Amino acid sequence: MAFTTKDVNLKPDRPKTLLLKKHADYLATYGSSHDDYEYCMTEYLRMSGVYWSLTAMELIGASDRMPKEDIIKFISSCQNKENGGISACFPHDPHILYTLSAVQVLTMYDRLDAIDVDGVVKYIASLQQEDGSFFGDKWGEKDTRFSFCAVMCLSLLQRLDAINVDKAVEFVLSCMNFDGGFGSKPGSESHAGLIYCCVGTLSICKRMDALKVDALAWWLCERQLPSGGLNGRPEKLPDLCYSWWVMASLTMLNRIRWVDREKLEEFILACQDAETGGFSDRPGDVTDPFHTLFGLAGLSLLGNTKIKPVNPVYCMPQETIDRLKLQPEIMM
Ligand code: FPP
Ligand code: ZN
Repeated sequence: MAFTTKDVNLKPDRPKTLLLKKHADYLATYGSSHDDYEYCMTEYLRMSGVYWSLTAMELIGASDRMPKEDIIKFISSCQNKENGGISACFPHDPHILYTLSAVQVLTMYDRLDAIDVDGVVKYIASLQQEDGSFFGDKWGEKDTRFSFCAVMCLSLLQRLDAINVDKAVEFVLSCMNFDGGFGSKPGSESHAGLIYCCVGTLSICKRMDALKVDALAWWLCERQLPSGGLNGRPEKLPDLCYSWWVMASLTMLNRIRWVDREKLEEFILACQDAETGGFSDRPGDVTDPFHTLFGLAGLSLLGNTKIKPVNPVYCMPQETIDRLKLQPEIMM
């Protein structure tokens, strides 16, 4: 029986150079027609959309094309006055994911004064459970993504003291698998997105010593397919956003040389749309701000000098992380 790998073919006429100007135009005009079907249908993730777009624009030096004052006002309007949490869009319920995105944006703008920071800290602390895990919101789903959101958000606010960090680390470590990877909860299969979250948590909490580094890095570099693209789990198609989840993790582990970086760059460039601008999950698909950020950030990790250096833990410009004097642990 022939062994086949799920993958895509890169077409000869694919984009092979970085179309920076196109991407800046795409992000500057995304959602400018508020009755676009797509824009309305994504209201539940508006706050993260602002984070993806602004970070991408910062990385390519075009953030002055974003409506800064409107964004700051929008974020203030999404904070819940009672519990301090921030929602994707008023009047939705707050969630730890959107609270993190809001804090990331205001940190990049150096405008944390626009929200009640103590309220945010209280909200996040209230989501920590006995076993150290975090709920995403009051509805109570626990997931290692939320541990990372909590730790990242509080570290940006210089308020990690508000939670039990040792317990948070203990929960994340209870999700480590025999292959060195991590899943969303204890016993769940390894998944590159969740590996990024768990390694990021350990990096911020300075507990990288707890990792099975070589097993984990091996599992991560096995995500590369013949097309050059990376998948998130065995037997899945390549997806551009895994260029971030996998490469950011390998950067924290100081092992990015374990993947074929030239082939990965070819795959990332092939995910650009030369007409509309932006990047998509796979060559030829419709582009979106999420994959546009991770395409650009992935190229930055690969050393592309047309893009500013990105911090592999925070997925924010390195200059912002330096300004805050944050030093997540990166392996030697
Ligand atoms: C894949 O999800 C990605 C993840 C599970 C990681 C998500 C990470 C966060 C929300 C933390 C914040 C991130 C940043 C960059 C600040 P998926 O649901 O698309 O997985 P699938 O490919 O298996 O469908
Ligand atoms: Zn994706």
